[in-house]
Amino acid sequence: MHTFVPVVLAYLLGSISFSFLYGKLFKGIDIRKHGSGNAGATNTLRVIGVGPAIAVLLLDAAKGVAAVWIGMAMGADSGVSYIAALSGLAAIAGHNWPIYFGFKGGKGIATTIGVAATLCLVPALIAGAVAIALIALTRYVSLGSLVFAALIPILVGFMDYPADVFWATLLIGVFAIVRHRTNIVKLVKGKENKIGQRAGGVS
Ligand code: G3P
Repeated sequence: MHTFVPVVLAYLLGSISFSFLYGKLFKGIDIRKHGSGNAGATNTLRVIGVGPAIAVLLLDAAKGVAAVWIGMAMGADSGVSYIAALSGLAAIAGHNWPIYFGFKGGKGIATTIGVAATLCLVPALIAGAVAIALIALTRYVSLGSLVFAALIPILVGFMDYPADVFWATLLIGVFAIVRHRTNIVKLVKGKENKIGQRAGGVS
């Protein structure tokens, strides 16, 4: 019961797709039918613009932070330490497979930023710096996203973190790879979209 409640709350919170809501409420579009078809900040940038993309990035990250906080608070109450990590994982699952929007969501990176920054700040900062440098060099956001998500469990493994944080971040890395399957194929073929290319934008 104590594990179930925060994890379900985190999943329901993660399922709130801010790129979808922004597209619907302010532009009258389904973001999933434009650009890359992904419900996330990068596609919001591509299809709608910089300001909305920053808002989506911050809000999608904030729900990751909030989910871990919910897990920490409820975990502290029940004395179960792994609930925070599990709640973070549930929020990312909600973002990727949202219950409110036909289980068709995003790739989970903004929410991963929020979860990782709350669960394991130092690995998140190091992986974030590497990802930003990679994106600046290559202009492939997906490559930076993948390296970010893959680096975190490696760094956590080398640092003094509890096992539950390691396993949660490892699964988060697996989620990121699964959700970036088409990006990986495009990267290998040299056909991936670069940041700054405006494909299928709406006015
Ligand atoms: O975080 C999503 C990003 O890595 C890729 O997004 O829209 O280019 O598939 P997109």
